[in-house]
Amino acid sequence: MLKIVTAITGASGVIYGKRFVEEVNRLGHKQTLLITEAGEKVLSQELDLSIKKDNPLASIQAEWDLSRPDLISREKIDDITAKIASGSRAPDAVVVIPCTMGTLARVAHGFSSNLLERVCDVALKENKKLILVPRETPLNQIHLENMLALKKMGADVVPAMPAFYNHPRSISELIDFVVGRVLDHLQLEHSLYQRWKGVHDNDDK
Ligand SMILES: Cc1cc2nc3c(=O)[nH]c(=O)nc-3n(C[C@H](O)[C@H](O)[C@H](O)COP(=O)(O)O)c2cc1C
Repeated sequence: MLKIVTAITGASGVIYGKRFVEEVNRLGHKQTLLITEAGEKVLSQELDLSIKKDNPLASIQAEWDLSRPDLISREKIDDITAKIASGSRAPDAVVVIPCTMGTLARVAHGFSSNLLERVCDVALKENKKLILVPRETPLNQIHLENMLALKKMGADVVPAMPAFYNHPRSISELIDFVVGRVLDHLQLEHSLYQRWKGVHDNDDK
């Protein structure tokens, strides 16, 4: 069982985060959720999800498709005393999905101004898996340079860019393609999208 920190920031496409949380939960891995303040606003804007201040996990457990709610916990974004803030308690992987250009910039430059940025910093220093799923368009020079810097540091940059070669018929198939590519980078088996079959009869060999 993997221990994964899943973070949702205030980029459009928080549905990617929701589907990732659901799928990792279905696969039976432990998750600690981190949601930035902007992430909470976009969850409310795009998914009509309002995070209750007194019981933050309740709304997620009530509305998302979680087969093992016991495997999910949540830390406050400003609680830098949380266990996961320490390199001695680093999770196996940190996934920021979706990732804003702001969080991406702060992680690229080691700001660690909240628990999420600190956990990403820890992942980099402890050589743990760090996957960022940026969502922005178009990209300016700062965005591109920050992504390149993170890639050079060992992070995986997996942009929210669905493919069309498998003829998606719904928005959920487009979302699941991106989530599936993130799971590929965690080496977790799934059937969220159909892999490219090639165009020749013998391409499977
Ligand atoms: C509805 C909405 C959509 C947004 N979409 C994006 C986006 O796709 N990418 C991005 O980088 N910022 C986006 N933003 C702006 C970020 O939320 C904003 O920069 C915020 O300060 C990021 O904070 P965070 O990185 O702590 O989550 C969006 C904001 C709103 C309200």
